[in-house]
Amino acid sequence: MSFDLVFFGGTGDLTWRKLMPALFQAFRHGKLPAGGRILAVARDDNSDERYREWLKERFREVDGSKRPNDEEFERFAALIHYRRMDLSQPEHYQGLKDWLDARQAETVVLYLATSPYLFTQICQQLGAVGLNEDRVRVVLEKPLGHDLASAQEINRVVRSVFKEEQAFRIDHYLGKPSVQNLMALRFGNALFEPLWRRESIANIQITLAEELGVGTRGAFYDGTGALRDMIQNHALQLLTMIAMEPPSTNDADAIRDEKLKVLRSLKPFTAETVVRDVVRGQYRSGNVGGTVVNGYLDEAKVPENSHCETFVALRTEVQNWRWAGVPFYLRTGKRLAARDAQIVINFRQVPHPIFPGTNQANRLVIKLQPEDGLELQLLAAKGGAHGEALTPVSLDLDFDKAFATNRVGAYERLLLDAIAGRLNLFVRSDEQEQAWRWVEPILDAWEQDSTGPRPYNAGSWGPAAASALVAKDGFAWAEEQ
Ligand code: BG6
Repeated sequence: MSFDLVFFGGTGDLTWRKLMPALFQAFRHGKLPAGGRILAVARDDNSDERYREWLKERFREVDGSKRPNDEEFERFAALIHYRRMDLSQPEHYQGLKDWLDARQAETVVLYLATSPYLFTQICQQLGAVGLNEDRVRVVLEKPLGHDLASAQEINRVVRSVFKEEQAFRIDHYLGKPSVQNLMALRFGNALFEPLWRRESIANIQITLAEELGVGTRGAFYDGTGALRDMIQNHALQLLTMIAMEPPSTNDADAIRDEKLKVLRSLKPFTAETVVRDVVRGQYRSGNVGGTVVNGYLDEAKVPENSHCETFVALRTEVQNWRWAGVPFYLRTGKRLAARDAQIVINFRQVPHPIFPGTNQANRLVIKLQPEDGLELQLLAAKGGAHGEALTPVSLDLDFDKAFATNRVGAYERLLLDAIAGRLNLFVRSDEQEQAWRWVEPILDAWEQDSTGPRPYNAGSWGPAAASALVAKDGFAWAEEQ
């Protein structure tokens, strides 16, 4: 299948840090369809040759195992072209169209790896020159909007130019193998589904913790914050996959219809419940992995007195028959004690304990990263003295080990899917807008509240109030149990 893949923002961080290395992996693994061209588009005056040289330099900063050797780079670079474009100039889009039309590849993927402020302008210009025929797909990187109104505006323009099935909204978490495994766990196995409901589950915890701080992204991050950066998209997408009803097929719309229903069933926040059920925090200096690190307010390009949250923990419920009354706790933060993304399903205790001791409940831990695996915690008898307490034991599955050679990184998978036209792992506009609708009352309440985020020490698990949030229901975060 012949394709042309165009990166708007061709010299930007996302392109060289994530997209080009991912494409190279696909190329190295022989998964990139033959007959492809990759076109980087940016403002600088560059030739194909100079851009390839520049990219080769950038690759030196990429993780060793993902870096091409000289011979591999030569072969990969032969697919890469460069084109100067000023995105505000209509004739430059015509030039792009002529370049693409000269070959008439079966598929054209236009990847907007630019600032989202340019999305509407680029889409309009693409439409104006007719770069929206059926063979064209547009890939939109997050953040898609800043709030509901701006997301709706982007979607309005995208829809006025492209059909919904031509729009590929990226949430890179959906490309992670561990996240795809969630679907396999639930809908490819008969074991858990009968237990996957309020009768058996006491609470569910989704944690996306990072050790890193905001690094060089202070200016961007300060206008964004953890709620918009991680909860509105990644954490909510995970929640939908945990809570959704079984879709009738594995097709994109069957899955996305079910995810949308979950988003619509989330308990709406009010000003009062935001105070009670949402904790926001901001890191102070502290010790992460043995290194003393700056507090958020001392990070580059962060305004003094910023109220930007670098941590959020919240409690919500999915208001339907399956989940009524089961708390879902979501938590994310920068400069936390560990890089750890996981979903913990805490099952209910046995209804009538007959063994001595505390009789812990069963727990299923779905590990997303750094390890990718499943841990099922059970209780067992050691077989020693009569009447001794049961001992916690766990069944541990390591998917990285089990499937090592077949694992495909998130961006590699998503780029290949965009080229192939598979929408399953992309977010539909209505899902995305519903997620904004749900987080907006939190943003509004925070804007009215001058107390700002609670401080927490870098290297901790966030403000103490996050523990209290869960303790109010009689539960505890996984690391506190
Ligand atoms: C991005 C956020 O979407 O996800 C970043 O903008 C965050 O702030 C990143 O660091 C985390 O992704 P991952 O794949 O490293 O967990």
